[in-house]
Amino acid sequence: MASFFLLLIVFMVLCFHGHSITHWEDVQALKQFINGVHSDSMAPGSCLASWDFSVDPCDSLSGDKFTCGIRCDVVISGVTRVTELTLDQAGYTGSLASSWNLPYLQTLDLTNNYFTGSIPGSFSRLTRLQRLSLSSNSLNGSIPDSVGAFPDSLEELLLDNNNLQGPIPPTFNSLTSLKRLELQGNRLSGEFPELSQLSNLYFLDASNNAISGELPSTYPGNLIELTVRNNSLQGNIPASLLNNSVYLQVLDLSYNNLTGTLQPELFTHPSLEQLVLAYNRFRWVQVPGNWGRNSELIAVDLSNNDIHGFLPGFLGWMPKLSALSLENNKFSGMIPTQYALKAVTASPAGVAPFERLLLGGNYLFGLIPGPFLQLKSGSGVTIRLGDNCLYECPQSFYFCGGGVQKSLVECKTFSPVIP
Ligand SMILES: *[C@@H]1O[C@H](CO)[C@@H](O)[C@H](O)[C@H]1NC(C)=O
Ligand SMILES: *[C@@H]1O[C@H](CO)[C@@H](O)[C@H](O)[C@H]1NC(C)=O
Ligand SMILES: *[C@@H]1O[C@H](CO)[C@@H](O)[C@H](O)[C@H]1NC(C)=O
Ligand SMILES: *[C@@H]1O[C@H](CO)[C@@H](O)[C@H](O)[C@H]1NC(C)=O
Repeated sequence: MASFFLLLIVFMVLCFHGHSITHWEDVQALKQFINGVHSDSMAPGSCLASWDFSVDPCDSLSGDKFTCGIRCDVVISGVTRVTELTLDQAGYTGSLASSWNLPYLQTLDLTNNYFTGSIPGSFSRLTRLQRLSLSSNSLNGSIPDSVGAFPDSLEELLLDNNNLQGPIPPTFNSLTSLKRLELQGNRLSGEFPELSQLSNLYFLDASNNAISGELPSTYPGNLIELTVRNNSLQGNIPASLLNNSVYLQVLDLSYNNLTGTLQPELFTHPSLEQLVLAYNRFRWVQVPGNWGRNSELIAVDLSNNDIHGFLPGFLGWMPKLSALSLENNKFSGMIPTQYALKAVTASPAGVAPFERLLLGGNYLFGLIPGPFLQLKSGSGVTIRLGDNCLYECPQSFYFCGGGVQKSLVECKTFSPVIP
């Protein structure tokens, strides 16, 4: 027994304190990386300032040389391989080395630095890479087509908040292990590519770019969140987006140039919880056949469009909907009593009450539905009815305050039937 423990201790000493040798290829690659970093951004005491190649990198991780940044978790025949390089929020400037020969690297995270220049195509040599984050740097140029040759192992690719321009290369569609793709906050343009082969992709954010044209007709089948806010998309939302992506929970296409009719599929989708289509040019809402009775929608924002017609009554019956904004459209007619019933807690059992109901800035007319008047300002329900053509919206009701009604002339000009 004692000899067993002795052996174990000898083994552990060999493993953890024995003299390891970092593979020469990895040492070269680390040297090339640090060569691209501006020396004046390596403040004394900073992580990279401690990198001293007079010692073996993986062997000296806990010493005062090589104190941080890398991990070396793989040992093959006594030779150690670098598995992680993380310099998040470290303030480095410079450019990324053009040669990346770290075949055992699984994580490369340079988030929140000031790296400039382009994305090296040689990332394709990081054949075991699972996570690549270059978020919040100053990288420019276009995303190389060779992104499609990035390793099959890649699960997270974060290129958001840089200065990348040009199109999103269609070759992205070959990164079949990709689960999370973030491209928001760049200057990417051109059309949105087909990404239907990314069957593992669940999160895609391409907001705050200059993507134009229509949305593609096919989609990854396992998307849970799709955000393409604040671009220049036009045309309608393809029904195939909703048909292909049955697990979709969040869809944010606000601040684009989308037009046409909002199809019933939006309100009958089996998983969709948040629908944000504000600041587009949609014109009509089509009532779903089953009135959205099976809808999972919790929050719907259709504000600041050009939607005409009566307020869609079915939205007042949707079982889980608790936040609805229809502000600043061209809705007319009377406020459905069901909206008011859903705003007071006395709505039918099992139906979520409205916590937020924003109807201001339309051409609604007639009387305020009676149930609204039961609401007191401390009720926690946010309601806005200002800037309409309501017969009377007394300032004493908190949800009428803050916005007077439109003038009779403006209301009559919009529609002569408004009394
Ligand atoms: C990228 O930025 C660098 C440094 O600011 C500049 O020299 C280079 O011309 C830029 N490249 C492109 C393609 O804009
Ligand atoms: C849209 O994106 C631009 C930059 O691409 C930014 O300046 C602007 O503030 C964004 N607008 C909104 C409403 O997010
Ligand atoms: C939206 O479309 C209109 C008409 O085609 C165009 O004038 C406008 O510039 C577009 N806006 C954006 C943000 O793309
Ligand atoms: C989407 O599914 C609905 C109902 O299953 C079907 O009626 C419609 O044709 C489908 N649309 C597309 C574009 O596949």
